[in-house]
Amino acid sequence: MGILINVLNKMAGIFRLAVLKKSTYGPYSIDIWDYTDEFEDIYGKIESLAGVTKRSLYLIYQALQQVRSIPGDIAECGVYRGGSAYLIAEVINKLAPQKTIFLFDTFKGLPDGNTEYDPALDKQSAYQDTSVESVKALLGKFNNCNINEGLFQDTLTSITEKTFCFVHIDCDLYDSIKYSCEFLYPRLNTGGMMVFDDYGYTIDWPGAKLAVDEFFKDKKEKPIHLPTGQGVIIKL
Ligand SMILES: C[S@@+](CC[C@H](N)C(=O)[O-])C[C@H]1O[C@@H](n2cnc3c(N)ncnc32)[C@H](O)[C@@H]1O
Repeated sequence: MGILINVLNKMAGIFRLAVLKKSTYGPYSIDIWDYTDEFEDIYGKIESLAGVTKRSLYLIYQALQQVRSIPGDIAECGVYRGGSAYLIAEVINKLAPQKTIFLFDTFKGLPDGNTEYDPALDKQSAYQDTSVESVKALLGKFNNCNINEGLFQDTLTSITEKTFCFVHIDCDLYDSIKYSCEFLYPRLNTGGMMVFDDYGYTIDWPGAKLAVDEFFKDKKEKPIHLPTGQGVIIKL
């Protein structure tokens, strides 16, 4: 069955058709999305780098079309090798090049986690196969990427005065996600979006959903759980 689906996917790639796909989150599902040619071109450049699924990247691609007219910049917590950051930079430079993209990571792998909430941390290779130099080289052709190396807890303070139209939080760990929410949500403008990549990864990263749900418990916005595994809020 797996081999058959791989063959069908290959053919789908050639003919740009939607066929049965092996889902990351369920046994199998129909991929109903008709990716645009523009997205496919960008995805082709980052497929080997991204720690984010194609479907989740497409959700980001679509969200950016909406937030283009919302005031504020863009932030990403969890950059790794720059896959989703590259997508954001390509798209935003066409839609709203005046916006700055602030990027945050240790670029040395995941920091220590909370052993109760992040049980998968020991099993992970922990995203150490990257460097700030390689991400700077990848994003070097864009002049509106601001790359910040270190723990969020030390680096996010550099954007205290900024506001945002889009925030991508993709950092797996309870403490990292909670801190990102606490810092960035108050700076998100009305109509702006926050996307939580790990929201549905409840087997490996139960702390990811917990952190988001706890944070939004007393907020007007409630996270919407998407079939991609992502969680999304739109600032009211
Ligand atoms: C899943 S990866 C990000 C994937 C990336 N968005 C992509 O497109 O491939 C998670 C990243 O979060 C970073 N991270 C997690 N917690 C952090 C923290 N507190 N401070 C800095 N970086 C952190 C890790 O270093 C890791 O590179």
